[in-house]
Amino acid sequence: MNTPAIEMIDITKVFPGIAANDHVNLTVWEGEIHALLGENGAGKSTLMSVLFGIHEADGGVIRIRGKEAAIKTPNDAIALGIGMVHQHFKLVHNFTVAENIVLGLECRNRFGNLDMAAAEKKTAELSSAYGLAVDPRARIENITVGMQQRVEILKILYRNADILIFDEPTAVLTPQEIDELLLIFNRLKAEGKTIIFITHKLKEIKAAADRCTVLRRGRTIDTVIVKDAEEMELAEKMVGRTINFKLERKPARPGGIILRIEDLQAADSRGLPAVNGLSLEVRAGEVVGVAGVDGNGQAELTAAIYGLLPVISGRILFKGRDITRKSIAERIKMGIAYVPEDRQRYGLVLDFYLYESLMLKGYRKPPFAQNLIDQFDIRAEKGPLTRTGDLSGGNQQKAIIARELSLSPELLIVSQPTRGLDVGAIEYIHTRILAERDKGRAVLLISFELDEILGLCDRIAAISRGSVVGIVPAEEAAERRIGAMMGGVASPDWKDPVPAPSIRGTHD
Ligand SMILES: Nc1ncnc2c1ncn2[C@@H]1O[C@H](COP(=O)(O)OP(=O)(O)OP(=O)(O)O)[C@@H](O)[C@H]1O
Ligand SMILES: [Mg+2]
Repeated sequence: MNTPAIEMIDITKVFPGIAANDHVNLTVWEGEIHALLGENGAGKSTLMSVLFGIHEADGGVIRIRGKEAAIKTPNDAIALGIGMVHQHFKLVHNFTVAENIVLGLECRNRFGNLDMAAAEKKTAELSSAYGLAVDPRARIENITVGMQQRVEILKILYRNADILIFDEPTAVLTPQEIDELLLIFNRLKAEGKTIIFITHKLKEIKAAADRCTVLRRGRTIDTVIVKDAEEMELAEKMVGRTINFKLERKPARPGGIILRIEDLQAADSRGLPAVNGLSLEVRAGEVVGVAGVDGNGQAELTAAIYGLLPVISGRILFKGRDITRKSIAERIKMGIAYVPEDRQRYGLVLDFYLYESLMLKGYRKPPFAQNLIDQFDIRAEKGPLTRTGDLSGGNQQKAIIARELSLSPELLIVSQPTRGLDVGAIEYIHTRILAERDKGRAVLLISFELDEILGLCDRIAAISRGSVVGIVPAEEAAERRIGAMMGGVASPDWKDPVPAPSIRGTHD
Protein backbone atom coordinates (compact mmCIF):
# COMPACT_ATOMS: atom_id res chain seq x y z
CA MET A 1 0.00 0.00 0.00
CA ASN A 2 1.05 3.57 -0.61
CA THR A 3 1.09 6.35 1.99
CA PRO A 4 -2.29 6.95 3.55
CA ALA A 5 -4.04 10.15 2.49
CA ILE A 6 -5.10 10.76 6.07
CA GLU A 7 -3.90 9.53 9.41
CA MET A 8 -5.65 10.79 12.51
CA ILE A 9 -3.82 9.41 15.52
CA ASP A 10 -5.11 9.51 19.10
CA ILE A 11 -7.39 12.45 18.41
CA THR A 12 -9.14 13.82 21.47
CA LYS A 13 -11.68 16.61 21.47
CA VAL A 14 -13.41 17.58 24.67
CA PHE A 15 -16.55 19.69 24.94
CA PRO A 16 -17.75 20.80 28.37
CA GLY A 17 -18.93 17.60 30.00
CA ILE A 18 -17.96 15.17 27.24
CA ALA A 19 -15.03 13.80 25.30
CA ALA A 20 -16.66 13.81 21.88
CA ASN A 21 -13.52 12.15 20.51
CA ASP A 22 -11.52 10.06 22.94
CA HIS A 23 -8.19 8.94 21.41
CA VAL A 24 -9.75 8.22 18.03
CA ASN A 25 -7.69 6.63 15.26
CA LEU A 26 -8.57 6.81 11.60
CA THR A 27 -6.48 5.86 8.58
CA VAL A 28 -7.79 6.53 5.10
CA TRP A 29 -5.92 5.25 2.03
CA GLU A 30 -5.49 7.39 -1.00
CA GLY A 31 -8.22 6.74 -3.56
CA GLU A 32 -10.54 4.82 -1.26
CA ILE A 33 -14.11 5.46 -0.22
CA HIS A 34 -14.06 5.25 3.54
CA ALA A 35 -17.30 5.17 5.50
CA LEU A 36 -17.63 6.48 9.03
CA LEU A 37 -20.33 4.75 11.02
CA GLY A 38 -21.55 5.34 14.55
CA GLU A 39 -24.53 6.03 16.74
CA ASN A 40 -26.02 9.49 17.06
CA GLY A 41 -23.57 11.46 19.15
CA ALA A 42 -20.70 8.98 18.62
CA GLY A 43 -18.39 11.78 17.50
CA LYS A 44 -18.34 11.48 13.69
CA SER A 45 -19.09 15.10 12.85
CA THR A 46 -16.69 16.24 15.55
CA LEU A 47 -13.88 14.14 14.09
CA MET A 48 -14.50 15.56 10.62
CA SER A 49 -14.67 19.09 12.04
CA VAL A 50 -11.23 18.52 13.53
CA LEU A 51 -9.93 17.28 10.18
CA PHE A 52 -11.43 20.27 8.39
CA GLY A 53 -10.15 22.81 10.91
CA ILE A 54 -13.51 23.84 12.35
CA HIS A 55 -12.55 22.56 15.79
CA GLU A 56 -9.02 22.25 17.07
CA ALA A 57 -8.25 18.92 18.77
CA ASP A 58 -7.14 18.85 22.38
CA GLY A 59 -4.73 16.05 21.63
CA GLY A 60 -3.46 13.80 18.87
CA VAL A 61 -1.72 14.11 15.55
CA ILE A 62 -2.97 14.50 11.99
CA ARG A 63 -0.87 13.45 9.03
CA ILE A 64 -1.89 14.29 5.50
CA ARG A 65 -0.14 12.25 2.79
CA GLY A 66 2.46 11.20 5.37
CA LYS A 67 3.28 14.71 6.57
CA GLU A 68 2.24 16.02 9.96
CA ALA A 69 -0.23 18.87 9.51
CA ALA A 70 -1.37 21.67 11.80
CA ILE A 71 -4.96 22.28 10.73
CA LYS A 72 -6.30 25.21 12.70
CA THR A 73 -8.80 26.70 10.28
CA PRO A 74 -10.77 25.51 7.26
CA ASN A 75 -8.35 27.54 5.13
CA ASP A 76 -5.49 25.34 6.35
CA ALA A 77 -7.53 22.28 5.39
CA ILE A 78 -8.39 23.68 1.95
CA ALA A 79 -4.71 24.49 1.34
CA LEU A 80 -3.98 20.80 2.03
CA GLY A 81 -6.51 19.77 -0.60
CA ILE A 82 -9.29 18.86 1.83
CA GLY A 83 -12.89 19.80 1.05
CA MET A 84 -16.06 19.24 3.05
CA VAL A 85 -19.69 19.02 2.03
CA HIS A 86 -21.70 19.86 5.13
CA GLN A 87 -25.06 18.35 5.89
CA HIS A 88 -26.67 21.76 5.83
CA PHE A 89 -25.48 23.31 2.61
CA LYS A 90 -23.87 26.69 2.65
CA LEU A 91 -25.04 28.13 -0.67
CA VAL A 92 -26.29 31.63 -1.45
CA HIS A 93 -29.85 31.09 -2.60
CA ASN A 94 -30.33 34.02 -4.93
CA PHE A 95 -26.98 33.47 -6.65
CA THR A 96 -26.51 31.25 -9.67
CA VAL A 97 -24.72 27.91 -9.63
CA ALA A 98 -21.59 29.42 -11.19
CA GLU A 99 -21.61 32.40 -8.84
CA ASN A 100 -21.74 30.09 -5.85
CA ILE A 101 -18.93 27.96 -7.16
CA VAL A 102 -16.51 30.85 -7.67
CA LEU A 103 -17.59 32.79 -4.58
CA GLY A 104 -14.45 34.04 -2.86
CA LEU A 105 -12.22 33.03 -5.78
CA GLU A 106 -13.82 35.15 -8.49
CA CYS A 107 -12.10 35.34 -11.84
CA ARG A 108 -11.50 38.93 -12.94
CA ASN A 109 -11.14 40.04 -16.52
CA ARG A 110 -8.43 42.46 -17.57
CA PHE A 111 -10.51 45.44 -16.47
CA GLY A 112 -10.82 44.00 -12.98
CA ASN A 113 -14.50 43.21 -13.42
CA LEU A 114 -16.05 39.94 -12.48
CA ASP A 115 -15.61 37.52 -15.35
CA MET A 116 -18.75 35.41 -15.15
CA ALA A 117 -18.19 33.97 -18.61
CA ALA A 118 -14.93 32.42 -17.39
CA ALA A 119 -16.61 31.17 -14.23
CA GLU A 120 -19.40 29.56 -16.21
CA LYS A 121 -16.91 27.96 -18.59
CA LYS A 122 -14.82 26.53 -15.75
CA THR A 123 -18.00 25.25 -14.05
CA ALA A 124 -19.11 23.55 -17.25
CA GLU A 125 -15.68 21.92 -17.67
CA LEU A 126 -15.62 20.55 -14.14
CA SER A 127 -19.17 19.37 -14.37
CA SER A 128 -18.52 17.41 -17.54
CA ALA A 129 -15.18 16.03 -16.26
CA TYR A 130 -16.88 14.50 -13.20
CA GLY A 131 -20.30 13.80 -14.68
CA LEU A 132 -21.94 16.28 -12.30
CA ALA A 133 -24.62 17.73 -14.53
CA VAL A 134 -25.67 21.23 -13.45
CA ASP A 135 -26.84 24.33 -15.23
CA PRO A 136 -24.23 27.02 -14.38
CA ARG A 137 -26.81 29.77 -14.82
CA ALA A 138 -29.63 28.32 -12.72
CA ARG A 139 -30.39 30.00 -9.41
CA ILE A 140 -29.89 27.88 -6.31
CA GLU A 141 -33.42 28.58 -5.05
CA ASN A 142 -34.83 26.98 -8.21
CA ILE A 143 -32.92 23.71 -8.16
CA THR A 144 -33.47 20.52 -6.17
CA VAL A 145 -31.55 19.55 -3.06
CA GLY A 146 -29.73 16.88 -5.08
CA MET A 147 -28.58 19.55 -7.53
CA GLN A 148 -27.54 21.85 -4.71
CA GLN A 149 -25.37 19.07 -3.39
CA ARG A 150 -23.67 18.77 -6.77
CA VAL A 151 -22.93 22.48 -6.60
CA GLU A 152 -21.30 21.94 -3.19
CA ILE A 153 -19.18 19.15 -4.68
CA LEU A 154 -18.19 21.30 -7.67
CA LYS A 155 -17.31 24.07 -5.29
CA ILE A 156 -14.72 21.96 -3.51
CA LEU A 157 -13.42 20.45 -6.76
CA TYR A 158 -12.99 24.01 -8.04
CA ARG A 159 -10.71 24.57 -5.06
CA ASN A 160 -8.67 21.52 -6.12
CA ALA A 161 -9.65 19.29 -3.23
CA ASP A 162 -8.56 15.68 -3.55
CA ILE A 163 -9.75 14.59 -0.12
CA LEU A 164 -13.52 14.96 0.05
CA ILE A 165 -15.48 14.74 3.29
CA PHE A 166 -19.24 14.18 3.19
CA ASP A 167 -21.20 14.48 6.44
CA GLU A 168 -24.44 12.54 5.98
CA PRO A 169 -24.84 13.56 2.35
CA THR A 170 -27.68 11.13 1.73
CA ALA A 171 -29.87 12.18 4.65
CA VAL A 172 -31.47 14.92 2.57
CA LEU A 173 -31.74 12.99 -0.69
CA THR A 174 -34.44 10.88 -2.28
CA PRO A 175 -33.60 7.25 -3.14
CA GLN A 176 -33.02 8.19 -6.79
CA GLU A 177 -30.69 11.01 -5.83
CA ILE A 178 -28.82 8.68 -3.46
CA ASP A 179 -28.14 6.23 -6.30
CA GLU A 180 -26.82 9.10 -8.39
CA LEU A 181 -24.59 10.33 -5.57
CA LEU A 182 -23.09 6.88 -5.07
CA LEU A 183 -22.29 6.79 -8.80
CA ILE A 184 -20.66 10.20 -8.47
CA PHE A 185 -18.54 8.85 -5.59
CA ASN A 186 -17.30 6.07 -7.82
CA ARG A 187 -16.46 8.50 -10.58
CA LEU A 188 -14.54 10.71 -8.14
CA LYS A 189 -12.71 7.65 -6.90
CA ALA A 190 -11.83 6.65 -10.45
CA GLU A 191 -10.29 10.11 -10.82
CA GLY A 192 -8.08 9.36 -7.83
CA LYS A 193 -10.02 11.30 -5.19
CA THR A 194 -10.19 10.09 -1.60
CA ILE A 195 -13.63 10.13 0.01
CA ILE A 196 -14.81 10.01 3.62
CA PHE A 197 -18.48 9.36 3.81
CA ILE A 198 -20.65 9.53 6.95
CA THR A 199 -23.95 7.68 6.78
CA HIS A 200 -26.31 5.72 9.01
CA LYS A 201 -27.48 3.55 6.16
CA LEU A 202 -25.70 0.22 6.05
CA LYS A 203 -26.97 -0.44 2.53
CA GLU A 204 -25.14 2.63 1.27
CA ILE A 205 -21.94 1.53 2.99
CA LYS A 206 -22.25 -1.89 1.38
CA ALA A 207 -22.94 -0.31 -2.01
CA ALA A 208 -20.19 2.29 -2.06
CA ALA A 209 -17.49 2.02 0.59
CA ASP A 210 -14.20 0.12 0.51
CA ARG A 211 -13.59 0.26 4.24
CA CYS A 212 -15.58 1.41 7.22
CA THR A 213 -14.46 2.75 10.58
CA VAL A 214 -16.92 2.34 13.42
CA LEU A 215 -17.07 4.82 16.31
CA ARG A 216 -18.96 4.35 19.56
CA ARG A 217 -19.19 6.92 22.33
CA GLY A 218 -16.19 8.84 21.13
CA ARG A 219 -13.93 5.84 20.59
CA THR A 220 -12.74 3.86 17.58
CA ILE A 221 -14.22 0.38 17.73
CA ASP A 222 -12.85 -1.12 14.54
CA THR A 223 -12.02 -0.59 10.87
CA VAL A 224 -13.35 -3.28 8.55
CA ILE A 225 -13.15 -4.16 4.87
CA VAL A 226 -16.73 -3.64 3.75
CA LYS A 227 -17.04 -6.51 1.30
CA ASP A 228 -16.09 -8.95 4.05
CA ALA A 229 -18.59 -7.60 6.59
CA GLU A 230 -22.29 -8.32 6.97
CA GLU A 231 -24.67 -5.41 7.56
CA MET A 232 -25.71 -6.97 10.85
CA GLU A 233 -22.11 -7.19 12.00
CA LEU A 234 -21.56 -3.49 11.28
CA ALA A 235 -24.74 -2.53 13.11
CA GLU A 236 -23.78 -4.53 16.15
CA LYS A 237 -20.28 -3.09 16.29
CA MET A 238 -21.83 0.32 16.19
CA VAL A 239 -24.38 -0.02 18.99
CA GLY A 240 -22.71 -2.78 20.99
CA ARG A 241 -25.82 -4.97 21.06
CA THR A 242 -28.08 -7.01 18.79
CA ILE A 243 -30.49 -5.06 16.60
CA ASN A 244 -33.96 -6.11 15.58
CA PHE A 245 -34.25 -5.35 11.91
CA LYS A 246 -37.67 -6.94 11.63
CA LEU A 247 -40.41 -5.12 13.51
CA GLU A 248 -42.97 -6.96 15.58
CA ARG A 249 -46.33 -5.87 14.20
CA LYS A 250 -49.67 -6.90 15.57
CA PRO A 251 -52.58 -6.75 13.15
CA ALA A 252 -54.18 -3.29 13.13
CA ARG A 253 -57.58 -2.75 14.70
CA PRO A 254 -58.74 0.41 12.94
CA GLY A 255 -61.55 2.39 14.55
CA GLY A 256 -63.40 5.52 13.53
CA ILE A 257 -62.15 8.09 11.05
CA ILE A 258 -59.92 10.65 12.78
CA LEU A 259 -58.64 12.59 9.78
CA ARG A 260 -60.55 13.09 6.60
CA ILE A 261 -59.17 15.14 3.74
CA GLU A 262 -61.61 16.07 1.02
CA ASP A 263 -60.53 17.25 -2.38
CA LEU A 264 -57.80 19.45 -0.95
CA GLN A 265 -56.04 22.12 -3.00
CA ALA A 266 -53.05 24.06 -1.70
CA ALA A 267 -50.21 25.98 -3.29
CA ASP A 268 -46.52 25.92 -2.45
CA SER A 269 -44.51 28.93 -1.27
CA ARG A 270 -44.12 30.12 -4.86
CA GLY A 271 -47.86 29.98 -5.46
CA LEU A 272 -47.69 26.93 -7.72
CA PRO A 273 -50.26 24.18 -7.25
CA ALA A 274 -48.81 21.56 -4.90
CA VAL A 275 -51.76 19.67 -3.45
CA ASN A 276 -54.18 18.94 -6.24
CA GLY A 277 -57.57 17.58 -5.28
CA LEU A 278 -56.21 15.18 -2.71
CA SER A 279 -58.53 12.98 -0.66
CA LEU A 280 -57.46 10.65 2.11
CA GLU A 281 -58.71 9.17 5.38
CA VAL A 282 -56.84 8.03 8.45
CA ARG A 283 -58.62 5.96 11.09
CA ALA A 284 -57.88 5.55 14.76
CA GLY A 285 -55.46 2.68 15.30
CA GLU A 286 -53.88 2.66 11.86
CA VAL A 287 -50.76 4.00 10.22
CA VAL A 288 -51.37 5.42 6.77
CA GLY A 289 -48.24 6.04 4.76
CA VAL A 290 -47.77 8.54 1.99
CA ALA A 291 -45.19 7.27 -0.46
CA GLY A 292 -43.92 9.42 -3.27
CA VAL A 293 -41.01 11.14 -4.92
CA ASP A 294 -39.99 14.35 -3.13
CA GLY A 295 -41.72 17.46 -4.42
CA ASN A 296 -45.06 15.85 -5.19
CA GLY A 297 -46.97 17.75 -2.53
CA GLN A 298 -46.03 15.84 0.62
CA ALA A 299 -44.57 18.84 2.46
CA GLU A 300 -47.55 21.03 1.55
CA LEU A 301 -50.03 18.33 2.53
CA THR A 302 -48.65 18.02 6.06
CA ALA A 303 -48.28 21.79 6.40
CA ALA A 304 -51.92 22.25 5.39
CA ILE A 305 -53.17 19.63 7.86
CA TYR A 306 -51.20 21.28 10.65
CA GLY A 307 -52.32 24.77 9.65
CA LEU A 308 -48.99 26.13 8.44
CA LEU A 309 -50.24 26.54 4.89
CA PRO A 310 -53.54 28.07 3.81
CA VAL A 311 -55.94 25.85 1.93
CA ILE A 312 -57.30 27.04 -1.41
CA SER A 313 -60.26 24.70 -1.55
CA GLY A 314 -61.46 21.43 -0.11
CA ARG A 315 -61.83 20.48 3.54
CA ILE A 316 -59.88 18.97 6.40
CA LEU A 317 -62.00 17.19 9.00
CA PHE A 318 -60.69 16.10 12.38
CA LYS A 319 -63.04 13.69 14.15
CA GLY A 320 -65.81 15.00 11.97
CA ARG A 321 -65.17 18.67 12.75
CA ASP A 322 -64.10 21.00 9.99
CA ILE A 323 -60.68 22.41 10.95
CA THR A 324 -59.78 23.82 7.54
CA ARG A 325 -59.61 27.40 8.86
CA LYS A 326 -58.58 26.72 12.43
CA SER A 327 -55.36 28.14 13.87
CA ILE A 328 -52.34 25.95 14.59
CA ALA A 329 -52.85 26.48 18.33
CA GLU A 330 -56.41 25.20 18.12
CA ARG A 331 -55.29 22.17 16.15
CA ILE A 332 -52.62 21.34 18.71
CA LYS A 333 -55.18 21.70 21.49
CA MET A 334 -57.55 19.38 19.68
CA GLY A 335 -54.86 16.70 19.66
CA ILE A 336 -52.81 16.99 16.50
CA ALA A 337 -49.05 16.54 16.76
CA TYR A 338 -46.53 17.11 14.02
CA VAL A 339 -42.96 15.98 13.43
CA PRO A 340 -41.82 18.21 10.57
CA GLU A 341 -39.43 17.28 7.83
CA ASP A 342 -37.06 20.19 8.41
CA ARG A 343 -36.17 19.88 12.06
CA GLN A 344 -34.03 22.99 12.33
CA ARG A 345 -36.49 25.28 10.63
CA TYR A 346 -39.77 24.25 12.21
CA GLY A 347 -39.01 21.72 14.89
CA LEU A 348 -36.62 23.31 17.36
CA VAL A 349 -35.23 26.53 18.71
CA LEU A 350 -31.52 25.77 18.65
CA ASP A 351 -30.66 28.39 21.27
CA PHE A 352 -33.11 27.01 23.82
CA TYR A 353 -32.11 24.62 26.54
CA LEU A 354 -33.11 21.07 25.79
CA TYR A 355 -35.79 21.11 28.51
CA GLU A 356 -37.32 24.21 26.91
CA SER A 357 -37.34 22.52 23.50
CA LEU A 358 -38.98 19.48 25.06
CA MET A 359 -41.66 21.64 26.66
CA LEU A 360 -42.27 24.07 23.81
CA LYS A 361 -45.84 22.89 23.54
CA GLY A 362 -46.39 21.60 27.05
CA TYR A 363 -46.32 23.21 30.42
CA ARG A 364 -44.83 20.45 32.47
CA LYS A 365 -41.50 20.91 34.22
CA PRO A 366 -38.49 18.72 34.84
CA PRO A 367 -38.33 15.87 35.80
CA PHE A 368 -40.68 15.57 32.81
CA ALA A 369 -37.81 16.62 30.53
CA GLN A 370 -35.34 14.25 32.20
CA ASN A 371 -37.89 11.53 31.76
CA LEU A 372 -38.10 12.04 28.01
CA ILE A 373 -34.32 12.27 27.78
CA ASP A 374 -34.06 8.85 29.42
CA GLN A 375 -36.90 7.22 27.52
CA PHE A 376 -35.71 8.34 24.11
CA ASP A 377 -32.04 7.99 24.98
CA ILE A 378 -31.30 11.58 23.98
CA ARG A 379 -27.55 11.89 24.42
CA ALA A 380 -27.14 15.29 26.06
CA GLU A 381 -24.13 15.81 28.28
CA LYS A 382 -25.70 18.53 30.40
CA GLY A 383 -29.06 16.82 30.53
CA PRO A 384 -32.05 19.18 30.37
CA LEU A 385 -29.66 22.13 30.48
CA THR A 386 -27.85 21.25 27.25
CA ARG A 387 -28.24 23.87 24.52
CA THR A 388 -30.45 22.25 21.88
CA GLY A 389 -28.14 23.31 19.05
CA ASP A 390 -25.21 21.49 20.69
CA LEU A 391 -26.94 18.14 20.37
CA SER A 392 -25.79 15.95 17.52
CA GLY A 393 -28.12 15.93 14.52
CA GLY A 394 -29.75 12.64 15.38
CA ASN A 395 -30.31 13.62 18.99
CA GLN A 396 -32.12 16.79 17.88
CA GLN A 397 -34.44 14.58 15.89
CA LYS A 398 -35.05 12.32 18.89
CA ALA A 399 -35.93 15.41 20.95
CA ILE A 400 -38.67 16.49 18.52
CA ILE A 401 -40.20 13.04 18.38
CA ALA A 402 -40.07 12.74 22.17
CA ARG A 403 -41.89 16.05 22.57
CA GLU A 404 -44.58 15.31 20.00
CA LEU A 405 -45.28 11.83 21.37
CA SER A 406 -45.38 13.20 24.91
CA LEU A 407 -48.46 15.20 23.93
CA SER A 408 -50.43 11.94 23.54
CA PRO A 409 -51.96 13.22 20.31
CA GLU A 410 -54.97 11.64 18.67
CA LEU A 411 -53.48 12.34 15.28
CA LEU A 412 -49.76 12.14 14.75
CA ILE A 413 -48.35 13.51 11.52
CA VAL A 414 -44.78 12.38 11.05
CA SER A 415 -42.59 13.39 8.19
CA GLN A 416 -39.27 11.60 7.65
CA PRO A 417 -39.14 10.62 11.34
CA THR A 418 -35.89 8.68 11.19
CA ARG A 419 -33.87 10.92 8.95
CA GLY A 420 -30.33 11.06 10.35
CA LEU A 421 -30.99 8.47 13.06
CA ASP A 422 -28.77 5.50 13.76
CA VAL A 423 -30.21 1.99 13.41
CA GLY A 424 -30.73 1.60 17.15
CA ALA A 425 -32.67 4.85 17.37
CA ILE A 426 -34.69 3.92 14.26
CA GLU A 427 -35.69 0.66 15.88
CA TYR A 428 -36.87 2.56 18.96
CA ILE A 429 -38.79 5.23 17.06
CA HIS A 430 -40.49 2.63 14.90
CA THR A 431 -41.53 0.69 17.96
CA ARG A 432 -42.94 3.87 19.51
CA ILE A 433 -44.91 4.77 16.38
CA LEU A 434 -46.46 1.30 16.32
CA ALA A 435 -47.21 1.60 20.03
CA GLU A 436 -49.11 4.83 19.33
CA ARG A 437 -51.12 2.99 16.70
CA ASP A 438 -51.87 0.17 19.11
CA LYS A 439 -53.08 2.72 21.65
CA GLY A 440 -55.65 3.75 19.06
CA ARG A 441 -53.99 6.86 17.68
CA ALA A 442 -54.19 7.77 14.02
CA VAL A 443 -50.81 8.11 12.35
CA LEU A 444 -50.05 9.74 9.02
CA LEU A 445 -46.51 8.91 7.94
CA ILE A 446 -44.63 10.62 5.14
CA SER A 447 -41.36 8.97 4.17
CA PHE A 448 -39.04 8.60 1.21
CA GLU A 449 -37.78 5.34 2.68
CA LEU A 450 -39.81 2.55 1.15
CA ASP A 451 -38.53 0.17 3.81
CA GLU A 452 -39.91 2.44 6.49
CA ILE A 453 -43.27 2.76 4.76
CA LEU A 454 -43.53 -0.98 4.22
CA GLY A 455 -42.43 -1.74 7.77
CA LEU A 456 -44.86 0.58 9.56
CA CYS A 457 -47.95 1.19 7.49
CA ASP A 458 -51.30 -0.53 7.39
CA ARG A 459 -52.36 1.29 4.25
CA ILE A 460 -50.16 3.04 1.77
CA ALA A 461 -51.21 5.96 -0.40
CA ALA A 462 -49.00 6.70 -3.37
CA ILE A 463 -48.87 10.39 -4.15
CA SER A 464 -47.97 11.97 -7.46
CA ARG A 465 -48.48 15.56 -8.63
CA GLY A 466 -50.27 16.43 -5.43
CA SER A 467 -52.93 13.77 -5.52
CA VAL A 468 -53.35 10.19 -4.43
CA VAL A 469 -52.84 7.80 -7.34
CA GLY A 470 -53.69 4.64 -5.48
CA ILE A 471 -54.10 3.19 -2.01
CA VAL A 472 -53.04 -0.33 -1.16
CA PRO A 473 -53.25 -2.31 2.06
CA ALA A 474 -49.83 -3.14 3.47
CA GLU A 475 -50.08 -6.85 2.72
CA GLU A 476 -50.34 -6.17 -0.99
CA ALA A 477 -47.73 -3.52 -1.07
CA ALA A 478 -44.84 -5.00 -2.92
CA GLU A 479 -42.05 -2.50 -3.15
CA ARG A 480 -42.11 -2.45 -6.92
CA ARG A 481 -45.80 -1.74 -7.13
CA ILE A 482 -45.58 1.32 -4.91
CA GLY A 483 -42.55 2.47 -6.85
CA ALA A 484 -44.59 2.38 -10.05
CA MET A 485 -47.45 4.26 -8.42
CA MET A 486 -45.08 6.88 -7.08
CA GLY A 487 -44.01 7.55 -10.62
CA GLY A 488 -47.68 8.07 -11.48
CA VAL A 489 -47.70 4.96 -13.65
CA ALA A 490 -51.13 3.50 -14.16
CA SER A 491 -51.98 -0.10 -13.49
CA PRO A 492 -55.10 -1.86 -14.79
CA ASP A 493 -56.44 -2.69 -11.33
CA TRP A 494 -56.48 0.87 -10.06
CA LYS A 495 -59.73 2.70 -10.49
CA ASP A 496 -58.51 6.19 -11.05
CA PRO A 497 -55.04 6.23 -12.45
CA VAL A 498 -53.37 9.53 -13.18
CA PRO A 499 -50.53 8.86 -15.59
CA ALA A 500 -48.22 11.84 -15.59
CA PRO A 501 -44.72 12.94 -14.71
CA SER A 502 -43.92 15.09 -11.70
CA ILE A 503 -45.46 18.56 -12.09
CA ARG A 504 -42.34 20.38 -11.15
CA GLY A 505 -39.94 18.46 -13.35
CA THR A 506 -37.52 18.40 -10.45
CA HIS A 507 -35.64 15.40 -11.76
CA ASP A 508 -33.19 15.53 -14.55
N1 LIG B 1 -20.27 22.57 19.57
C1 LIG B 1 -20.52 21.67 20.53
N2 LIG B 1 -20.61 22.02 21.83
C2 LIG B 1 -20.86 21.11 22.79
N3 LIG B 1 -21.03 19.79 22.55
C3 LIG B 1 -20.94 19.37 21.29
C4 LIG B 1 -20.70 20.27 20.21
N4 LIG B 1 -20.68 19.56 19.05
C5 LIG B 1 -20.91 18.27 19.41
N5 LIG B 1 -21.05 18.15 20.75
C6 LIG B 1 -21.30 16.88 21.48
O1 LIG B 1 -20.28 15.97 21.11
C7 LIG B 1 -20.83 14.65 20.95
C8 LIG B 1 -20.52 14.13 19.56
O2 LIG B 1 -21.31 14.88 18.64
P1 LIG B 1 -21.19 14.70 17.05
O3 LIG B 1 -21.98 15.79 16.46
O4 LIG B 1 -19.77 14.57 16.68
O5 LIG B 1 -21.94 13.28 16.86
P2 LIG B 1 -22.26 12.48 15.51
O6 LIG B 1 -21.57 11.16 15.60
O7 LIG B 1 -21.96 13.32 14.34
O8 LIG B 1 -23.83 12.21 15.69
P3 LIG B 1 -25.07 12.25 14.60
O9 LIG B 1 -25.07 10.92 13.94
O10 LIG B 1 -26.27 12.39 15.47
O11 LIG B 1 -24.84 13.42 13.70
C9 LIG B 1 -22.30 14.76 21.26
O12 LIG B 1 -22.49 14.38 22.58
C10 LIG B 1 -22.60 16.23 21.08
O13 LIG B 1 -23.66 16.62 21.90
MG1 LIG C 1 -23.18 14.30 12.89
